[in-house]
Amino acid sequence: MSKPKKFQTLKGFRDILPEHQKFWNFVFEKVKDIAQDYSYQKIDTPILESAELFERTVGQTTDIVEKEMFVFKDKGGEKVTLRPEMTAPVARAYIEHGMISWPQPVKLWYWGPVFRYDRPQAGRYRQFYQFGFEVLGGSSPDIDSQLIIMSNHLYKSFGLDVEVQINSIGCPGCRKEYIKSLTKFLKDKKLCADCRRRLSVNPLRILDCKEKKCREAVSEAPQIIDSLCEECRDHFVKVLEGLDESEVVYNLNPFLVRGLDYYNRTTFEFYLSDEEVASQNALGGGGRYDYLVEQLGGRPTPAIGFAGGVERVVLKIKEKGIKIKDQTQADVFVAQLGEEAKKKCLKLFNDLRKEGIKVRESFSKKGLTEQLERANQMKVKYTLILGQKELLDGTIIIRDMESGIQEIVDFEKVIPEIKKRILGVNGGVKIYSESAPSKS
Ligand code: HAM
Repeated sequence: MSKPKKFQTLKGFRDILPEHQKFWNFVFEKVKDIAQDYSYQKIDTPILESAELFERTVGQTTDIVEKEMFVFKDKGGEKVTLRPEMTAPVARAYIEHGMISWPQPVKLWYWGPVFRYDRPQAGRYRQFYQFGFEVLGGSSPDIDSQLIIMSNHLYKSFGLDVEVQINSIGCPGCRKEYIKSLTKFLKDKKLCADCRRRLSVNPLRILDCKEKKCREAVSEAPQIIDSLCEECRDHFVKVLEGLDESEVVYNLNPFLVRGLDYYNRTTFEFYLSDEEVASQNALGGGGRYDYLVEQLGGRPTPAIGFAGGVERVVLKIKEKGIKIKDQTQADVFVAQLGEEAKKKCLKLFNDLRKEGIKVRESFSKKGLTEQLERANQMKVKYTLILGQKELLDGTIIIRDMESGIQEIVDFEKVIPEIKKRILGVNGGVKIYSESAPSKS
């Protein structure tokens, strides 16, 4: 018989193993906390959406839609896709659920997997998680500043030192003029094959092409900032003034156009302060999308949002050696010797758990040595040992796992004693003596 095929995750897809979960939980909790502090409500949208939702909004000529969507026909023949981002789905949900009638602006946050058929490398995957915040129904520049300030706080709360790259790409009106002068400027310059094509379909994208010759070509190009109409300029100045009042470190970056077509006015991205500004290093990005809801058939709804990449944040937290408390770390292990003791310990385990103590066991193991080994691996502070002798005496041993010191307490008083030690709740329990572990 031939050997069965060994399956592995697909290229660009990853398992998140138990040992990595503490980092993911840490990031999730910080995102959730800040979202609650700033009054964002959580939204979950489906992973599968109509492909047209993204073609119409992210843009037909963007890399995401042209090359990176996982598109297929479902059994009913509808062209569907794994979502490559979450802003268009949130805008769809805003319209679908009549959120226009809710108090404005509507502030939503999300967390979930997105899919892009990108070339996998460190920090670039085909399935990755995004957290994000969207504010729909508000046009004030203060909203832009507040979103950037909040996102900056969030990265700081991860322990990461970040800088914001910021730009304004104007409105469709002023951008039209700019695109004309940019195209004229780049027409005779040396460009990569992709950008030659972009020159007629989406010249703004040339500004953030990574090819050397394209970078050289755009270095002298006219800057969009100089073409902004009065309203767009005024909006941008106010956003920056808002940031000046905060601790946000920002850099004006005239080449930051972002890879999605729905943006207008403010665009921004977060990078580690000590890292190069290159697309695979972006820890998050966002911008205004005042026309997106309307493009999807809704009423005019100015909006802005931001999304961050969880894998990249986790990678940086690990690289920087930031210490994270493992929330699943237990304090107490319950060890038992003999059938009667096990029965009593099953109840004790549950009683401790109900009292808010993080407790572990290994009831399938019989020997004390094995159980103590397991307790050691779990790095608990105390192991409670119930052997034959203790069972008869109505006592139990508390073993301090670091010092190895053992004390005997009344079985009935063990919970208040453990609570006192772990949670700082006063138990007032009499300790008899030190003793060696009892053998069954
Ligand atoms: P984005 O810049 O395409 O924006 O993605 C946001 C973040 O997702 C990036 O800054 C990066 O951290 C992470 N990311 C992107 N691609 C990958 C990948 N292949 N592997 C790992 N991480 C990745 C958006 O998606 C917009 N929807 C953001 C937004 C929200 N704009 C307005 N509201």
